[in-house]
Amino acid sequence: MTTASASGKVILFGEHAVVYGRPAIAVPVTELRARAAVTDAPPGAGCAIVAADLNRRLPLADAPPEDPLALIVRLTLAELDTAPEPDWTITLRSDIPIASGLGSGAAVSTAIVRALAEHAGRPLAPGVVSALVYETERLHHGTPSGIDNTVIAYEQPVRFVRGQPPQRLRVGADFWLVIADTGVASPTKLAVGDVRRAWQADPAHYEALFDRISHITEAARQAIETGQVTELGPLMDENQRLLAAIGVSSPLLERLCVAARQAGAGGAKLSGAGRGGNLIALVTQHTAEGVAAALRAAGAIRVVVTGTTTDGE
Ligand code: PMV
Repeated sequence: MTTASASGKVILFGEHAVVYGRPAIAVPVTELRARAAVTDAPPGAGCAIVAADLNRRLPLADAPPEDPLALIVRLTLAELDTAPEPDWTITLRSDIPIASGLGSGAAVSTAIVRALAEHAGRPLAPGVVSALVYETERLHHGTPSGIDNTVIAYEQPVRFVRGQPPQRLRVGADFWLVIADTGVASPTKLAVGDVRRAWQADPAHYEALFDRISHITEAARQAIETGQVTELGPLMDENQRLLAAIGVSSPLLERLCVAARQAGAGGAKLSGAGRGGNLIALVTQHTAEGVAAALRAAGAIRVVVTGTTTDGE
């Protein structure tokens, strides 16, 4: 049996604007992981995907072309030149909530690619993994920027600009985030589509908002690299105001951001597509517990504390 895993991720700054060519910053969330295991099946059994959490078994031969799990398996087997179809069972598990901005789709796909490549004895470079996973992101997202597959395949903090090689971010000082789940599933494709329609209706206004987000993202990048962690809080608050102006916040997200700040967070913002999903709050090791408790009391259904440390682990 060969096993592999992949982390979740959060976008710290720049979501939505990144779809329009502006930079974004994302970090892996190593506490949340998707896992894939590949075992040999009897000769002639072919390839099958078992989604253990969903109690679902999908023989590859029966899967429609638009099934994202089947797509990533097919693409990876082609990349590995494993024709004819090998007799392998791929079992999946994930503790990353779906449709909540934590990169669950990209993480599951990344774990599959890594496990298949290991099982074939041909580990793939992160850039190749990222490109394969991007193809499945297109099914989930419509017009994905590519940030999820990039940060998850490299499993390092990144500054990302669509169409450019990702830049690894050096982290000057450790920082901690509380990630809080609103419990409201929010498909990325819908939020991204709504923003696109609004941008088409008033491009000048939206371009100006994206430019302001871009300035915040670049200031945040500098603060992260130089270890000026406390500067990140006000930048998160400002990014949140601009995301609300774009139309992707919600009353619940706003309420949770306020609760986090009142409990001592340095700043708070939604993360990912918005409307629901998760928000992030900047904390210290001392304030993390109080902020997490306040977020639960204000309605968050799940809270995770994650650290981004200077060696990128
Ligand atoms: O909800 P998530 O984490 O998949 O992030 C979506 C981020 C967007 O910028 C809104 C879309 C994208 O493709 O980058």
